[in-house]
Amino acid sequence: MTKLLLRALAGETLPTPPIWMMRQAGRYLPEYRATRAKAGDFLSLCYTPELAAEVTLQPLRRFDFDAAILFADILLLPQALGSELWFVTGEGPRLSTITTRAQVDALKPGDAIHERLSPIYETIRILAGELPRETTLIGFAGAPWTVATYMIAGRGTPDQGPAHDFKTADRAAFSALIDRITEATILYLSAQIEAGAEVVKLFDSWAGSLSDANDRRDFAIEPTRRIISALKMNHPDVPVIAFPRGLGENYKGFARATGADCVALDQSVSSEWAAEHLQIDSCVQGNLDPQLLITGGDALKVEASRITRALRNGPHIFNLGHGITPDADPDNVTRMIEAVRGA
Ligand code: CP3
Repeated sequence: MTKLLLRALAGETLPTPPIWMMRQAGRYLPEYRATRAKAGDFLSLCYTPELAAEVTLQPLRRFDFDAAILFADILLLPQALGSELWFVTGEGPRLSTITTRAQVDALKPGDAIHERLSPIYETIRILAGELPRETTLIGFAGAPWTVATYMIAGRGTPDQGPAHDFKTADRAAFSALIDRITEATILYLSAQIEAGAEVVKLFDSWAGSLSDANDRRDFAIEPTRRIISALKMNHPDVPVIAFPRGLGENYKGFARATGADCVALDQSVSSEWAAEHLQIDSCVQGNLDPQLLITGGDALKVEASRITRALRNGPHIFNLGHGITPDADPDNVTRMIEAVRGA
């Protein structure tokens, strides 16, 4: 096994960590904006395999990254289950809402998703043939809780209020929704692996809002554990990265409880703390503040090398704490990579 990312995920401590970035294909790159304009809109870009593969490859032509992440979105799965989905430019995603048990029951069965999602598998097949040999291909899905928050509210919300309200009003119906998403996610990620994804990542962007310990167990830990154990039955060698963003102290034990090979960290936990409490259980990924790719300068170099040094005595994948933003300077990405490799 020679790919650096796979070695870190297998638990190896490496002299320099593999590097990639969340949202590495995105609006901070002029070539991304050009391809997106050609596609017309964001969803057409996701569903046109040649163009989605093209934008996945663009950051690799500029930067010496160790991984490529499939270009798609976590909200394509709810669309495949029957939610309506559209993107409002400058505002973000919109979906039809779910507020009743009947609406949960009316969702399509999990095995119906492939019809709509087959272009995503085609994007992966194209990438599997085109990626440089040393680059690892990452597939992904949203984790059930985060996906449910969008399906219930019909949009992003600051506090995930509508999802918490539905959970309180009818816990059985809410659990049924989580189960439906969990089952569909197993099928979706299995199909991504069969098409050529070598690693899969679960994005639980709103895990931090599950502040009650029972809720966290039932809706963040347990669905993630179920997905990972189902994937490992058929694909024992495919590593899983879990990103339960915002867990803070509760990152502790998450890898062990879910079977994740790696936990991705946001920038609210320190890398020194992660080295002490998390790297003993699993590989860790993270966690540079994406803001530093806007501001650059010495602070960027100091932080990138500090994180690298703090995590160098265990398995580590260098990444950001969240996605790179549209106003980031691509030259700062080059400086970040130099600082990590020179640390
Ligand atoms: O990381 C990658 O580069 C892979 C592709 C990817 C996208 N979205 C592309 C995208 C991945 C892994 C995601 C995950 C995703 N999508 C999450 C979880 C991670 C996170 O960021 O918290 C969430 C919550 C979504 C839902 C979503 N998609 C939102 C809220 C938005 C609007 C915000 C924004 O940045 O505009 C999107 C749109 C989106 N997804 C863009 C990209 C590149 C921007 C679309 C554009 O070109 O206008």
